[in-house]
Amino acid sequence: MTDQKKNDIAFDALLTEEREFPPSSSFTAKANISDDSIYEIARKDPEGYWASWAEQLDWETPWTKILEWDPPHAKWFVGGRLNASYNCLDRHLDKNGEKTAIIWEGEPGDTRRYTYRELHAEVSRFANGLKKLGVELGDRVAIYLPLIPEAVIAMLACARIGAVHSVVFGGFSAESLRDRIQDAEAKILITATSGYRRGNPVPLKKVGDAAVEECPSITNVVVVMRRAAAEEAEETINMHPGRDVWYHDVIRSAEEHCPPTWVDSEQMLYTLYTSGTTGKPKGIIHTTGGYLTGCYATTKWVFDLKPDDIFWCTADIGWVTGHSYVVYGPLANCATVLIYEGAPDWPKKDRMWELVEKYGVTIFYTAPTAIRAFMKWGHHLPDGHKLDSLRLLGSVGEPINPEAWIWYHKYIGGERCPIVDTWWQTETGAIMITPLPGIVATRPGSATRPFPGIEAEILNDAGERTPVGGGYLALTRPWPSMLRGIYRDPERYEAQYWSKWKGIYFTGDGAKRDENGYFWLLGRVDDVINVAGHRIGTMEVESALVDHQSVAEAAVVGISHEIKGTAIAAFVIIKESAREAAQKDPVAFENELKNHVATKIGAIARPEKILITADLPKTRSGKIMRRLLRDIAEGRRLGDVTTLADPTVVASLKERYEDEG
Ligand code: WTA
Repeated sequence: MTDQKKNDIAFDALLTEEREFPPSSSFTAKANISDDSIYEIARKDPEGYWASWAEQLDWETPWTKILEWDPPHAKWFVGGRLNASYNCLDRHLDKNGEKTAIIWEGEPGDTRRYTYRELHAEVSRFANGLKKLGVELGDRVAIYLPLIPEAVIAMLACARIGAVHSVVFGGFSAESLRDRIQDAEAKILITATSGYRRGNPVPLKKVGDAAVEECPSITNVVVVMRRAAAEEAEETINMHPGRDVWYHDVIRSAEEHCPPTWVDSEQMLYTLYTSGTTGKPKGIIHTTGGYLTGCYATTKWVFDLKPDDIFWCTADIGWVTGHSYVVYGPLANCATVLIYEGAPDWPKKDRMWELVEKYGVTIFYTAPTAIRAFMKWGHHLPDGHKLDSLRLLGSVGEPINPEAWIWYHKYIGGERCPIVDTWWQTETGAIMITPLPGIVATRPGSATRPFPGIEAEILNDAGERTPVGGGYLALTRPWPSMLRGIYRDPERYEAQYWSKWKGIYFTGDGAKRDENGYFWLLGRVDDVINVAGHRIGTMEVESALVDHQSVAEAAVVGISHEIKGTAIAAFVIIKESAREAAQKDPVAFENELKNHVATKIGAIARPEKILITADLPKTRSGKIMRRLLRDIAEGRRLGDVTTLADPTVVASLKERYEDEG
């Protein structure tokens, strides 16, 4: 880490927030956990504490050892055998077979409900269908679906037969999907004819077809008919003979009885691709026993989940939040979850509040970027709905600014709902730093304390502990839901997470700890940009830009953005041959570059700003000075430039963009 980045942390850490919101006595009285001695109990015997959680799952064979820790490789609940789908479905059937597991609403307003028994039946059928297609224990299955019940069914069907799912967010491009399928060598792709976004069908099958063209590992593509058959005749979708099969045909011809495949606790449950600092996205590996334990425990305590709650985590299934808090955590707890397919502002900007009211949502978990958008749209929208079913709110994905926190508290929570600001990552599998709502007083902008059994520290480069103050956020003890590696890249796993300090996990985030021991997250310290709560590697966007015929070199930085929190600004050096086109119609030229990135990666990576430049500021060793670029893109005064190879580069850049701010 460079000195500039350290300064960034120190600078951010100056912000203080004094407002405190202790839990109400009525909330605490009913809370699942209301005694804070649990922190000490877990600290003294973390393994015993985690084992007590794992015991609340159903195991076919008990484990013989809680933890085997050979840094950086952990095995949890060694020797135990279980099945994730059994834990999310079968074990609830006796008592709760008729309880609603999923309430689903599509963007156009179509709805479906599944009881636990119905979900179990459909998952079992689909699992048998996958078996018939030749899917075996350990095989990878790619899932590229809109947020429809089949997405959950597909995940659980994989888990049922010990196959590894790799869910790819439906907003990713054909190339991104292709790269992920190729890396995982997936055998099957599960997709849909289309999904809905802001009233428009998104042609997923077409994207899937383009991706699969270059994926020799794929033997079959299973296609879910998303739109009503009448609207979209089967023949309008191009079904590839011998390769493509309809989901409804697979289900129809499959038997309902499908005994779960008992797998080792350390059997891979899924891989999920996420952006890292360098090169291509990495497939984060999660295994079964520990992951499920982490999801189960955090759902129960962080969200204070009760049997009659209606739990709504707004995340898409394509992100880890959807994996852990739409599927595995809530279903392992026998919760009723709401899932909604579409955009929050469709057909009107109060869709979310309409859904909360319609379904009597009690727990609402969303991202700061959404909260900032709601805030901008105005509180008259939530004011127009009855939201008093809500009793707990959550936030995840990026630091929540105190202003947005207070707005959320006031206009959504009616000043009565605790807010859990939950810090975690794809890699951590489950929530790591969070208030326990019956115990911990919250402060706007702080994720407060590590979950019991989790140990977090603020460290400096040398690995020295900072009891109060800023630095790198590290997790100093293995935890059950931790990633087990990067798919097919063990070296990168060690280098990325475990090379900074021995046996200690490096999160890539900066944070500070205050006098009360509360953690305040300060954002990424590496070259990952968190745009609207989604991680995007600067390298990926730079590669996509350089891939355009007009671009010679590119450097990408994150800049502040009112709604997204952070947006992407790209500094681009264009080729001589493109100069004329760029000068003639700069707006069209910039849009072309933006669209190119969106096509290569997906719309989430589309740069907000393109800044054309003749040169880029680099250190004498050739590293691009991103901090300077950020300052320029945000129109700030520039700091120290003495380490620059050529200071005139900055002067000319600055001159050019100063007024554009
Ligand atoms: C950021 C999402 C501040 C952080 C679950 C982390 C947060 C990255 C918070 C992981 C929070 C997530 N406060 N920052 N409550 N939650 N982050 O893998 O930078 O998509 O490293 O997992 O999001 O993003 P990921």
